[in-house]
Amino acid sequence: MRKKIVAGNWKMNLSSSDSIELFEGIQREAEPISGVDLVVFPGFLSLSLLVERSGILVLGAQNAYPGHSGAFTGEVSLAQLKDLGINHLIIGHSERRMLFHETNAFVHEKVTAALDLGFTIFFCCGEPLDIRSANQEGDYVLEQLKSGLWHLNETQMAQVVIAYEPVWAIGTGQTATIEQAESMHAFIRNQLKIHFGPEVADQTSILYGGSCNPSNAKELFACPNVDGGLIGGAALNKDSFIQIAQSF
Ligand code: 13P
Repeated sequence: MRKKIVAGNWKMNLSSSDSIELFEGIQREAEPISGVDLVVFPGFLSLSLLVERSGILVLGAQNAYPGHSGAFTGEVSLAQLKDLGINHLIIGHSERRMLFHETNAFVHEKVTAALDLGFTIFFCCGEPLDIRSANQEGDYVLEQLKSGLWHLNETQMAQVVIAYEPVWAIGTGQTATIEQAESMHAFIRNQLKIHFGPEVADQTSILYGGSCNPSNAKELFACPNVDGGLIGGAALNKDSFIQIAQSF
């Protein structure tokens, strides 16, 4: 049975003390939620403060540089994160791709390096609005999957979670409809089946991200191919994150 996951991407939000308060609050109240893996991705500066507080709530990083060490001013390496005890990582978020010009080739490099070090990766894919308007979202997402994941083997794929995040739904309040979400998730799973076979397709969790909140999570998570969510804005509030986690 593939995992159900609710993950919070805190992006560049919250002070260290607010991060600790939110983290501890979620951890305290989420204790009785069973059968759902809970992961949060705070900012780098809070990670080292939270790592020792981590219990049922798993910690991950929003980004990392694929090199081990060296002259990369301002970057944080995968090895540094490992050293801190971090084993989960978001790769290919649309904000990294668009605002920081991360190409499919660079995303590919990060995926390989992160899996080599034993990370579990949350691989993000999703189309911008003009691609959706031109009905080319399938080709677009397939290209991201091909360049980011198709070089992996079945063992490596066990360390991959996919997050489908249509760019036009991120932070806009415009959630994908149930039909749009399920149809893309089914498409992604079918592509996994064609490329890796039925077992990988069946075992890979595919999360939805994009204006997911306590009022729409239940119907999104009820879709047969939606295995949870990667939540932005609604993950910054303890009660809404927990309500989303209880929406299965
Ligand atoms: P929102 O939930 O704020 O739309 O963000 C989604 C997202 O980008 C999660 O990675």
